[in-house]
Amino acid sequence: MTRLGILLSGRGSNFVAIADRIARGELRGCEIAVVISNKAEAGGLAAARERGLTALAIEANGRKRAEHDAAIIAALREHGVDLVILAGYMRLLSPGFVQAFPQRILNIHPSLLPAFPGLEAQEQAFAYGVKVAGCTVHFVDEELDHGVIVTQRVVPVLDADDEATLSRRILAEEHEAYSEAIAKVVSGEYEVAGRRYIRKG
Ligand code: GAR
Repeated sequence: MTRLGILLSGRGSNFVAIADRIARGELRGCEIAVVISNKAEAGGLAAARERGLTALAIEANGRKRAEHDAAIIAALREHGVDLVILAGYMRLLSPGFVQAFPQRILNIHPSLLPAFPGLEAQEQAFAYGVKVAGCTVHFVDEELDHGVIVTQRVVPVLDADDEATLSRRILAEEHEAYSEAIAKVVSGEYEVAGRRYIRKG
């Protein structure tokens, strides 16, 4: 059984989509070991508690990033986490965190990387005038929104769209993409080959 450790900072709709899949028996071989937020008031923590999951607030409280991350790493280890899932976790990870879970941290980003890294990716894409947008699930490395891509989903930008309608459709795809990516990783059937994540030959 792969034990997932979810990190989030906000409403947690990606976490909820993953938890619902697991509850329906659709993400076989996975269980959620712990949900951690750097914000005590995060909606995602409340959603985790409603589901009877272990939900922890570990706030930075003025600590340096490495020190805060060490507390999170300790909690992940304590709960036997094998795979860390960043689900709207809006804080950069320190190099020590990335090294503690090599190729075992996934992130979801609301753009077709490498386009539009960073904050408010949907707004960046809309403002640029792209005709296709989407989302990316990737392994986390030491650069922002940069690691090897596990899966991407494309969302066409419609003439009638505004930032809000486009963001909603991207989010709906995120909810599919994240479970698809986790299933790929836990299947053990794929490997990293350079920058590509491909079926083992
Ligand atoms: C999602 O759109 C996710 O892709 C984005 O934050 C949102 C969290 O929503 N993450 C990033 O922008 C990371 N750079 P959620 O809390 O409802 O899952």
